[in-house]
Amino acid sequence: MSRDRVSSQVITEREDNRLTDHEVRSLIGQVEVAVRDSIDRVLPELAGADPVVRRSEHADFQSNAALALAKRARTRPSEVAGAVSEALLAGTGTLVAGVTVSGPGFLNLTLADFTLWQQVAARLASPRLGIGSPEQGRRTVVDYSGPNVAKEMHVGHLPSTIVGDCLVRVLGFLGAEVIRQNHLGDWGTQFGMLIQYLDDHPEATWHHDQLTEGTSTVSALDNLYRAARAAFDADPAFAERARARVVALQAGDKDTIARWKEIVSESEFAFREIYHRLGVLLEPEDSDGESFYNFLLPDVADELTTAGIAVESDGALVVFSEEVTGPDGSPVTLMVRKKDGGYGYDTTDLATIRYRVRDLKADRILYVVDSRQALHFRLIFEAARRAGWLTDGIDATHVGFGAVLGPDGRPFKTRSGDTVKLMELLDNAVHRAKASVAEKAHELTEDELTRIAEQAGIGAVKYAGLSTSRTKDCVFNIERMVSLHGNTGVYLQYAHTRICSILRKAGDGPVEVDPTLPLHPAERSLILAVDVFGDTLAEVGRVLEPHRLCGHLYELAKAFTDFYEACPVLSAAEGVRTNRIALCQLSARTLRRGLNLLGIAAPERM
Ligand code: ARG
Repeated sequence: MSRDRVSSQVITEREDNRLTDHEVRSLIGQVEVAVRDSIDRVLPELAGADPVVRRSEHADFQSNAALALAKRARTRPSEVAGAVSEALLAGTGTLVAGVTVSGPGFLNLTLADFTLWQQVAARLASPRLGIGSPEQGRRTVVDYSGPNVAKEMHVGHLPSTIVGDCLVRVLGFLGAEVIRQNHLGDWGTQFGMLIQYLDDHPEATWHHDQLTEGTSTVSALDNLYRAARAAFDADPAFAERARARVVALQAGDKDTIARWKEIVSESEFAFREIYHRLGVLLEPEDSDGESFYNFLLPDVADELTTAGIAVESDGALVVFSEEVTGPDGSPVTLMVRKKDGGYGYDTTDLATIRYRVRDLKADRILYVVDSRQALHFRLIFEAARRAGWLTDGIDATHVGFGAVLGPDGRPFKTRSGDTVKLMELLDNAVHRAKASVAEKAHELTEDELTRIAEQAGIGAVKYAGLSTSRTKDCVFNIERMVSLHGNTGVYLQYAHTRICSILRKAGDGPVEVDPTLPLHPAERSLILAVDVFGDTLAEVGRVLEPHRLCGHLYELAKAFTDFYEACPVLSAAEGVRTNRIALCQLSARTLRRGLNLLGIAAPERM
């Protein structure tokens, strides 16, 4: 059998049909294909084995496949490694330039300079940097942010908002059909009390056009709600009126509903200001809050009852979990309908999942919500599976995250112990970023400085939230997050501006890479670093962890710094200069795209 046929068969079998015209397979991906091909040729009986390829300190890549294969083939690892190495050199065209066997049977692979330069040219030629669309056509609902109406957004709402926004951007870029859902807390008995209080106090100001600079509708409403609570506890006559108002709200009384709508829309105005400032993609039409599901709740309860999943218990309607038990060994429950006939958070989330499956026809549903709600979502998903809403082909995931802590490792609070308002946090970060940027920037006008400080400060906060592994608590140290050094948003923005400045001098037009030129080691490291971008994005799309993208961009920025120290660009000889400009262009475009997918601005000067 001719080798060509074997290898083309292997390729068609494993070829990703998601590869589009412009997709450039990553270098590690190409190495995997080549090693797998060689294994298939040398050990046809073990065809399809994992080539176990990693980046290596000793060469560009290392394959550790021989050890496991030798065991299965009952021979020595060094023998397998030797044979695979020969097959590799004979069969990969221009990809691999050198293979050595080290240790018991590790294959150290060095790629050809020619291939690396060609990779740069191929990525540069593509508007998407050669990145494929592995999420193509997958309808993905992302539930994120979800602030509560008439309450101020505080730092606790930040992780959901920015992690959700990043996932929306990454999944969308990878071809998913993303549906954004802002599950506003916009319904509940507390609004009856608030509405009654507002009616009793017509002098209270809370509309955004009545407020002075620095206050917002939600902070005004937040205070009014506290006052309403106090009145409720102190004044029985008010408590009576407030209870009647709750009934009126639930019964859909016209005036009460009009008042409630006013509160919701004024609150949304305040949220929109924050989203706008944060550069978050949420729009008013993405809001399907708790009230949206309200009219569906009786039907959800009926459906679960008919299916025998929800049962009466102590006058309430509940779902007993079949999977989770409490400390006393009894099953934990979801509350479908309270004793008094009311519905709550649990019922609403049963409705969200049914709606998203049935009406939105989602293939994947992500709930980007605080880890403390892990049990809630576990129970919701279990009930949805039992109800037949969630089937095997649909992925529902609770994308949880830890708490936001201050530099002292305690919950992030103001000095007086209050939760930190989001707008105040942003102002503070922008203020400090301005000092950081001003230190370095010499040729900026005051206007430019103000604009860039805003981009740097907001970027710093978002990056701090995104760069910590989701499952860990995130420590907020404003001083550190606006630093120009270390793994910060400002450092990445600054790295991007440095490349832009080189390109302003060198010319940012299309260049023709000469793949026959030898590679400097720092050029090589940079190419290998930048090439990982697409695979990293695909990984983020799979595991939903934005910090991996942050880590990759940080490595890229460092590799660029090393490259720029070792390899002059502007003063290099003609052909070398062109190739280096190409590398600068690829690095700048990758950083820019990466920052954009994190939802962080990439200014051209700082
Ligand atoms: N409003 C909720 C909160 O503040 C978050 C909503 C999350 N989304 C959901 N479908 N439960 O905790």
